[in-house]
Amino acid sequence: MEQLSGEAKVMMEENRQGEAMIKPGVGSKKLYLESYGCQMNFSDSEIVVSILDKEGYETTSDPKQADLILLNTCSIRDKAEQTVRNRLKHFKRMKRENKNMKIGILGCMAERVKAKLLEEEQLVDLVVGPDAYRDLPQLMKELDGGKKAINVLLSKDETYHDIEPVRLGGNGVTAFVSITRGCDNMCSFCVVPFTRGRERSRNPQTIVVECQKLWADGYKEVTLLGQNVDSYLWYGGGLKKDFKVASDMAQASAVQFSHLLHMVANALPEIRIRFATSNPQDMSDEVLQAIAEHENICKYIHLPVQSGSSRILKAMNRGHDRADYMDLIDRVKRIIPDCAISQDIMAGFPTETEEDHEETLSLMSQVRYNFGYMFAYSERPNTMAARKLEDDVPLAVKKRRLQEIIDLQQVHSAERNAANVGQVVEVLIEGYSKRSDKDVFGRTSQNAVAVFPKKHHQPGDLVKVLIRSSTAATLLGDSIDTPS
Ligand code: 5AD
Ligand code: SF4
Repeated sequence: MEQLSGEAKVMMEENRQGEAMIKPGVGSKKLYLESYGCQMNFSDSEIVVSILDKEGYETTSDPKQADLILLNTCSIRDKAEQTVRNRLKHFKRMKRENKNMKIGILGCMAERVKAKLLEEEQLVDLVVGPDAYRDLPQLMKELDGGKKAINVLLSKDETYHDIEPVRLGGNGVTAFVSITRGCDNMCSFCVVPFTRGRERSRNPQTIVVECQKLWADGYKEVTLLGQNVDSYLWYGGGLKKDFKVASDMAQASAVQFSHLLHMVANALPEIRIRFATSNPQDMSDEVLQAIAEHENICKYIHLPVQSGSSRILKAMNRGHDRADYMDLIDRVKRIIPDCAISQDIMAGFPTETEEDHEETLSLMSQVRYNFGYMFAYSERPNTMAARKLEDDVPLAVKKRRLQEIIDLQQVHSAERNAANVGQVVEVLIEGYSKRSDKDVFGRTSQNAVAVFPKKHHQPGDLVKVLIRSSTAATLLGDSIDTPS
C-alpha cells in the first residue's frame, strides 16, 4: 500500500537523482549528496552544491569515493526519518573503512533533532538546518580542524536569493525556483513550521532574473516553489507576520503571489510556469484569474485537502472547512474550466471515525481529482496534534482507510486520463521513456504524463500529441506535428 503513496513516489525521484548527480568540476574534493522529501529539499540541494562548488567540491555518484557524504533529509513522517537512519547505517559502514570520510545531515531532520543527532549518530560529523547552508564553508573548516559542526539557526529572510543553484541530475528542460520559505499555517499535524520556520518571501526581481537565466540556458518550464506559495508577499524583506508593522509605503507597494505570476508570465511569455504548493485558505481569485489569463501558466493546481470531514479539518487547524474547500473548487472550475486538480489526503488523523472517513471518500467523489498523494497519519513530536490528541486510530484501520482512498483515487485518475482519449494535447517533452528509448515522455499543461514514439523529437520540444489510450498513470499516443 505504501508504495502507492506520494512519499514513495518522491523516494523514487530521489534514487534517480542520487545516481545522476554528476557535475564535472575542477574540485579536488568529492561530494556525494542524497536528497529526500519534498521538491524544496531537492531545490535546496542545488544551492548546497553551488556553495560547496566554491569550496572545491565536485559531486560524485559513488559514495565510496566521497570525502563528504551529505543527506538532505525530511521529517514529515516518521517513515521518512527511519529511511534516513537506515541509509546512515550503510554510510557509517563505509566510513569505518575510510576514516577521512565526513558525514553530514542537512534539512528538516537536522533542524528537528538538532545536536541530539550528533549524540545519537556517533559517526555523523555535521548537522545543518535548511536556513544555514551559507555557513557550510565555515562549518567545513571546523570539520577540517577535527571537530564536529552544527548550525540550525532559522532565518528571517528568504536566505538564498543570490545563490545560483547548480542544476543537478536534471533533464535540462524543467527546473525549480524557490519563492517562499517556511509556513505560518500551523496545521496541527505538521512538523514544517518547526523545521522550516516562519514564512518569508523572496525578492520578485531575483525570481524573474533566475527564470530568465533558466530560459537562456534552454529550460522550458519553471516550478515556483514554496511550502505555501499563495501566501507569497514581498514588501522589501522580512517575515510575513511582520507585514502589519511595515511602513505604509512598503505595504502599498507589496507584491502578492498573483502579481508575481503576472510578472514571470509577462517577462517570459514562452516559458511554462507551474507552482506548488497551494493552501486552500490562501488561494485568491486573483491567482486563479492570473492562471486563466496567461497561456503559459499551466492549468493545474495541487490543492491539498487532507480530509473531507469539517470536524477533522478543525482538529487539524486547517484554515478551511469542507464547504470552504468545495467553494474554492467551484471557483477554480468557473475561472479555469480546463484546470486539473490534485490532492494530499491523510488517513487516520486522531479521533477520525468511519463517518469522517466516508466524508473524505465522498469529497473525493465530488471533486474527482486528477491524481493525489495519500498518507497514513504519522504523529510528529511537539506538534499540536501530538501534544493534544492521542494517536488513537489503530494502524490496521489507518492502512485500510488509506487503501480505500488510494483505490478510489485510482478510479478517478483513470477516468480523468480516459477523458483525453481521442483528443490532441500539448506535451512538453522531458526525456526518454524508462521502458524504451524509442519513446519519449512529457507532461501536459494539466500535469498528465504522456508517452509516445520519439520520431524526430527531442527533450524540450513542445509537441501536439493525439491520445489513443490511457491508464490511471499515463496517456499514450502519437505526435501529430513537427515542432517549430
Ligand atoms: N502524517 C502524515 N502525513 C503528513 N503530511 C504532513 N504531515 C503529516 C503527518 N504528520 C502530509 C500532508 C501534507 C503532505 C506534504 O504530507 O498531506 O500535505
Ligand atoms: Fe519534508 Fe516538509 Fe521538510 Fe519538505 S519541508 S523536507 S516535506 S518536512
